[in-house]
Amino acid sequence: MAFLCRSAAVLLKPCRAAPAVVSAARLYSSGGQYEYIVVEKRGENKNVGFIQLNRPKALNALCDGLMTEMGKALDAFEADGDVGAIVITGSERAFAAGADIKEMQNRTFQENYSGNFLAHWNRVSTVRKPVIAAVNGFALGGGCELAMMCDIIYAGEKAQFGQPEILLGTIPGAGGTQRLTRAVGKSLAMELVLTGDRIGAQEAKQSGLVSKVFPADQLVSEAIKCGEKIASNSKLISAMAKEAVNAAFELTLAEGNRLEKRLFHATFATDDRKEGMTAFVEKRKASFQDK
Ligand code: HXC
Repeated sequence: MAFLCRSAAVLLKPCRAAPAVVSAARLYSSGGQYEYIVVEKRGENKNVGFIQLNRPKALNALCDGLMTEMGKALDAFEADGDVGAIVITGSERAFAAGADIKEMQNRTFQENYSGNFLAHWNRVSTVRKPVIAAVNGFALGGGCELAMMCDIIYAGEKAQFGQPEILLGTIPGAGGTQRLTRAVGKSLAMELVLTGDRIGAQEAKQSGLVSKVFPADQLVSEAIKCGEKIASNSKLISAMAKEAVNAAFELTLAEGNRLEKRLFHATFATDDRKEGMTAFVEKRKASFQDK
C-alpha cells in the first residue's frame, strides 16, 4: 500500500513503505493522524514534545510526507505553552538513513529548482524551543543533517553518523557541509563528505558532534530527562539563550557579543529573571511563569 505525500504531490511519487505503527499515531493536539511519525507529550509533567520517526521498513528514510508531518508537529509544539523542549528520535536501528533515495531517483534539476526542493526541511532549524536529537543506529545523509539541525545531539553507543551522498553522485543538501564543518572542523568534515565513510558514537563525541553517549536502551529516557530539565526553566529565557548561541554561527564575535549583551539586558525586563534571582537569595527553588 502506498501513501500519497501531502505536499509537492505533483513533483513527488507517493512515499513507499507503509509504516508499521500507523493507527496509534494520533495528532495529539487535534485528534488527527500522522502516518510517518509518532507524536506525544512525554515527561512527568508532559512538558517535553516527543517526535519519533516511524518508517521502520525504510530505516526512517525522510520522504516528503514525513518531513511535512515533522513541520506540522513542530508547529503544534511551538504553539503549546506547556511544552518547553522537544525530542526527535528514530528507532534503535536507524535515526534516519537519509532523504528518501527512491523518491529522489527520477527528479530533475528543473523540478528541484522551481519547486525549491526540501526547503520545508528548514522548519526544524527555525524552531525557537530547544530541540534534542536522540540518535540510535544510522544517521546518514539527510538523517545526519536532521540531527545537526537540532540543538543538542545525544547518541546511543551504536549510532553511526555519515554524509554518504558522494556515493550517490550528489552532495549534502540540507546543511551537511556547513553544520558538520562547524561541529567537527574542516579535516574530519571533508573526510566524511568526500569518502562517504561513517563515524561511530565515540568518535562523534570526541569530535564535538554529540554531547553525550548512552547505552542504546537508555538513550530516549536520557533525552527526555534533558528535555525536562530544560523545560523546568523559563521558556522565555531559554528561547533567548538559544537565539544567542545560534548567533555564534552567523555573526562576527563583536556582533555576537553585542547581540548577547542586548538579550542579557532584555532578560531584566522579565518576571522570570526577577523570580530566578529572588529565589536564589531566598534559598528556594525558582518558579518560572514564562513571563
Ligand atoms: C530510501 C532506504 C534508504 C534511503 C535505506 N532504505 N536507506 N530507502 N532511502 N535513504 C531502505 C532500503 O532500500 C531497504 O528497503 C531498507 O531501507 C533496508 O535497507 P538495507 O539497505 O536493506 O539495510 P542494510 O543492509 O542494513 O543497510 C543499511 C544502510 C543502507 C547502510 C543504512 O540502507 C544505506 O546505505 N542506505 C542509504 C544511505 C544513504 O545513502 N543516505 C543518504 C541518502 S541521500 P527495500 O524495500 O529496498 O529492501 C540524502 C541527501 C540529503 O540524504 C540531501 C538533503 C536532504
